[in-house]
Amino acid sequence: MIDLRSDTVTVPTAGMLAAMTAAPVGDDVYGEDPTIAELEARTAALLGHEAGLFCATGSLANVLGVAQHVGPGQEVLCDAGAHIARAEMGAHGALTGVTMRTWVTPDGRVDPDGVAALLAPDAGPYLVSTACVALENTHNFGGGTIQPLAALQAVSTLCADAGVARHLDGARLWNAHVVTGVDLATYGALFDTVSVCFSKGLGAPVGSVLVGSAAQMATARVLRKRLGGGWRQAGLLAAACLYALDHHVARLADDHAAASAFADAAREALPVGSPARVAEPGTNIVVVHTGGVPAVEVAARALAEGIALSVVGARVVRAVTHLGVTADQARRAGEILAPLLG
Ligand SMILES: Cc1ncc(COP(=O)(O)O)c(C=O)c1O
Repeated sequence: MIDLRSDTVTVPTAGMLAAMTAAPVGDDVYGEDPTIAELEARTAALLGHEAGLFCATGSLANVLGVAQHVGPGQEVLCDAGAHIARAEMGAHGALTGVTMRTWVTPDGRVDPDGVAALLAPDAGPYLVSTACVALENTHNFGGGTIQPLAALQAVSTLCADAGVARHLDGARLWNAHVVTGVDLATYGALFDTVSVCFSKGLGAPVGSVLVGSAAQMATARVLRKRLGGGWRQAGLLAAACLYALDHHVARLADDHAAASAFADAAREALPVGSPARVAEPGTNIVVVHTGGVPAVEVAARALAEGIALSVVGARVVRAVTHLGVTADQARRAGEILAPLLG
């Protein structure tokens, strides 16, 4: 089985497991876990923020981040394919009571003019006021799309001028950083809060960190506990994240090369005249438009051939490369998939 459903399917390496078992730990609800403290401080420093908060998931980090800026009955603007809008089980509406208005973009790339057209920071007595703009880099459902730095800067300035907060869902910000060479702190400086994940391409079993100001992280810590997300000797998990920071960031380039190998092989093997289309991956995610065949059918055919993919739209499947898949396996998966697309 070549499992390309997501970069979340990895299992800890031997080195990571050794780091986990060697970690000094304590009760984090009492603020006594030194490994968690180290991860929070290190991640905050990398992103140029004052403080961090270790969370079980990216979804939790996003909920806590957005809730720093948006109250019940206010809105967060994001794109229609954003993870906070399409996934996370509607947590932002269900738990924080926010509303969302969205712009539409085919590959997740942000258009500052589109954001400007929606911004309504002081919408008066009967319209919903915008409290936050949330961006995603890289963009998952858009196909691992890297947001151009100039567009991020434009949106950031737009929001600052309007007095609107900025949250970045940076679950895969590492991937953008590795491709562009843009410093994590340069990205971080454009946002009030940033969430990053260690359990995607970085290969840790669990863990995300939210960064922002010390005051925001103190508030987020209380809310995390209220939601049942306070944890105790979770330094065992933070150690995996620290190990991933040291050993698994630069190697993301291998995942990007494997994604290109998959896409190239699939394109080359597509039957002549096939309406299917394989998008060019910017990082480790390949979006495949299945043309005339429903995505669930393509995924079932692929599974029968030993290739696991995700269905992310009626006629869209997704392949994601990660540290459990070699470039050769990815290439082979592309060759196997193409004829199944019809
Ligand atoms: C862009 C993005 N943000 C947030 C998340 C949520 O992460 P988690 O699954 O840890 O809640 C994901 C998960 O795949 C994601 O792709």
